[in-house]
Amino acid sequence: MAEYDIVIRNGQVADGTGKRLFAADVALKGDRIAAVEPPGTLKGASEIDATGKVVAPGFIDVHTHDDTALIDNPAMAMKASQGVTTVVCGNCGVSAAPYLNTEVGHWMSLIIKKKENASKDFAGFAAKVEAAKPAINGAFLIGHGTLRMNAMGDDLNRVATASEIKVMHDLLDQSLEQGAIGMSSGLFYAVSNAASTDEVAEVAAPLGKWGGVYTAHMRDEGDDILKAMDETFEIGRRAGAEIIVSHHKCSGRSNFGRMVETLPKFTDAMKQQQIAFDVYPYIAGSTILRSDMLERADKVLITWSDKVAGMSGRDLKDIAREMGCSMKEAADRLQPAGAIYFMMDEKDVQAAMAHPGAMIGSDGIPFDAHPHPRLWGTFPRVLGHYSRDLKLFSLEDAVRRMTSYSAQRFHLTRRGEIKPGFYADICVFDPATVIDTATFEKPISPARGIDTVLCNGQVAWRDGKPGGGRGGRVLKRQDIQAEAKAG
Ligand code: ZN
Ligand code: CU
Repeated sequence: MAEYDIVIRNGQVADGTGKRLFAADVALKGDRIAAVEPPGTLKGASEIDATGKVVAPGFIDVHTHDDTALIDNPAMAMKASQGVTTVVCGNCGVSAAPYLNTEVGHWMSLIIKKKENASKDFAGFAAKVEAAKPAINGAFLIGHGTLRMNAMGDDLNRVATASEIKVMHDLLDQSLEQGAIGMSSGLFYAVSNAASTDEVAEVAAPLGKWGGVYTAHMRDEGDDILKAMDETFEIGRRAGAEIIVSHHKCSGRSNFGRMVETLPKFTDAMKQQQIAFDVYPYIAGSTILRSDMLERADKVLITWSDKVAGMSGRDLKDIAREMGCSMKEAADRLQPAGAIYFMMDEKDVQAAMAHPGAMIGSDGIPFDAHPHPRLWGTFPRVLGHYSRDLKLFSLEDAVRRMTSYSAQRFHLTRRGEIKPGFYADICVFDPATVIDTATFEKPISPARGIDTVLCNGQVAWRDGKPGGGRGGRVLKRQDIQAEAKAG
């Protein structure tokens, strides 16, 4: 009888730490990596031939809005097809739990298609995700914006009162106890924009007690970005939490080139406190349609509109011309809607991605009719376009920024490395052909060169389609901390 369940044979291992590729067979038993040994020495009940391929840890998408996509689309093709085996959800201040209201408004619709997927507490939400048996793992942040809606209803254009802060604080405390891994804020968004620094720091206080992380879609990514960075660092310090700045960018033409200010500022701050950031490999962002963002963008594409049919994928300028009105007026007529904004400089994007504090996160929005191509393309694009073709960094370093570094910053114990005892989250890909195929014109398209993807030892993706394995788990704070303690 074979000693192992699966042996991945004859591949080049990129173990996730950034170490040079080496030839090895990787043996799996149950949900774990059991052995990494010279080629030809291990025997498995089944084998995967990885000749000419790279065997890497499954990628960790640290910035997602896949909270309820894990329930509605448990095969998670848009992520498994990229080699992603874990998604960190609840970013940008919006999470599906704890949500005490019954209606899902415009902003919550970013992450929720069916309102029954929202949950009053995190434990209930985690149970829904587990019941759906997703193909890949989920770890969850609690959104400060969602907490605000619970405590303040629709009356959001002001600082929260002391008693409202207490409600939010206690909901966060309870959620962390039940297994959320941290809190996110989105002070850029209308729901949270009126919140003061003090409010967020006071709400976030339980993070220190539970060892939760703080992720921030900052108040400003344009003219006032340096001030917004200071605010973010202060909130993390006061909450006693490690910080991950979300989708770092310098937004708007007048801010192009300002990575020469923000990146040294990160480097300095990283000497004082634990700070990192995520980046997606595109010069366009995407969120709900906001008329105050139109001026800042060189081009705006509509991703969905509930009001006017047939608008998805179209340029707002063309829509405005047809309607015979201004872009702002056209935007108003489409609402509620979502959009893609071309607002970054390619050189800035590359500088951010190559910084020591950078890891990869897609920021994909799962339910859009015509989504930003990052939803299907982020990880293969970094491997194929930025690492192989542009040589921005080595393949080993690209993999590190998608795996071990991400796992360390989010404290995802025993994930992100090819190492005995670690979970069998694995991506086998062809380094010569791996590339994104999703474009702004045709955004729903699986990448090329992703061969086999395993999550907790089960096949999540193979031969260009979902592999049928549904081994994904909810990575709960108490579980990953207990495992870290056990060593
Ligand atoms: Zn965001
Ligand atoms: Cu986001």
